[in-house]
Amino acid sequence: MNKQLRKAIIAGNWKMNKTPAETKSLLTEIAPLVKDADCDVIACVPYVDLTTAIDATQGTNIKIGAENCHWAESGAFTGEISAKMLASMGLEYVIIGHSERRQYFGETDVTVNKRTRAALDAGLNVILCVGELLEQREQGVTAELVAMQTKIALNGVSKDELKKIIIAYEPVWAIGTGKTATADQANEVCAVIRKVIADVYDKAAADTMTVQYGGSMNDGNADELLGKPDVDGGLIGGAALVAEKFAAIVKAASK
Ligand code: 13P
Repeated sequence: MNKQLRKAIIAGNWKMNKTPAETKSLLTEIAPLVKDADCDVIACVPYVDLTTAIDATQGTNIKIGAENCHWAESGAFTGEISAKMLASMGLEYVIIGHSERRQYFGETDVTVNKRTRAALDAGLNVILCVGELLEQREQGVTAELVAMQTKIALNGVSKDELKKIIIAYEPVWAIGTGKTATADQANEVCAVIRKVIADVYDKAAADTMTVQYGGSMNDGNADELLGKPDVDGGLIGGAALVAEKFAAIVKAASK
């Protein structure tokens, strides 16, 4: 992390876990443990838990986000939720382009861009996910792939709007597998992303862009990952569902 230049941000991605009642209880457990955090703390929860999560975190330093949004404002898109709907609830954040959306739900770089655009238009902050598959890493195309994902996702996003974007580098092979990228691997790709921002926008935009790492980050490896200069935080899956583990990662980011 380089806290002189940019914000450290730890965000939980709860994925398809927790009922509203369980959400209330987990957030109530997390809140006192992270209250003195010297980083931003976000919990991105399933749509049905959003109201409960917003209520449960009133008066705390935990911000709430959703895990996806559609690109249209409204219309015949059964099962989808628009960015405008999320913003109207008072939400501040939304994850876009998570690899599980790309892998299982046909999300492409183009739809990621459309959803990013819609989220920004609705006034939301976006946690934009990019990352390579294991075979892509083995083929040696990680840097090109991640650069392409980043560029397409940000197509039509102005330099000013970049302030509302956080980029999460999540190597797909490290998600939910217990296989973490080494701190050097994570740092290397986070630096590639920052270079893309410098090339497409400018150095100032790159210097202030928060780039998170995600993929089996936990209380045991957070210190080392966050100790790297280009890793500005984490997007946490499994460990975000256990209050003490999530709080320990927040503590590591608060140093
Ligand atoms: P895990 O931390 O469970 O590997 O998940 C990472 C992730 O996908 C966060 O978005």
